[in-house]
Amino acid sequence: MPTVRIIEVDREIEIPEGHPLLQGAIDQGIAFGFFCAGESACATCLVKVVEGLDSLPPRNPLEDFLSKAMLLETNLRLACQTKAGSSPLVLSFPSLARK
Ligand code: FES
Repeated sequence: MPTVRIIEVDREIEIPEGHPLLQGAIDQGIAFGFFCAGESACATCLVKVVEGLDSLPPRNPLEDFLSKAMLLETNLRLACQTKAGSSPLVLSFPSLARK
């Protein structure tokens, strides 16, 4: 199970491979606001992948649509749609920095 370090809360958690990053963080008690309940419509779950981007699966069609509309760089992902890969990650959640 890959480890995931979240910069804003200075914590390292484990998210099972294939599990969405947003749900994995919530399951570990890291709560942050999001508005669309993981429907790829709000982008409040935006996460910057600081390390480990190559281990993540490509954007699915829902994420790809919103990412193109927002002109997101490749290291900015929607945590509700992005599933953990097999390698460690370092993530930055801008929404956590605003609290
Ligand atoms: S929770 Fe709304 S896009 Fe991810």
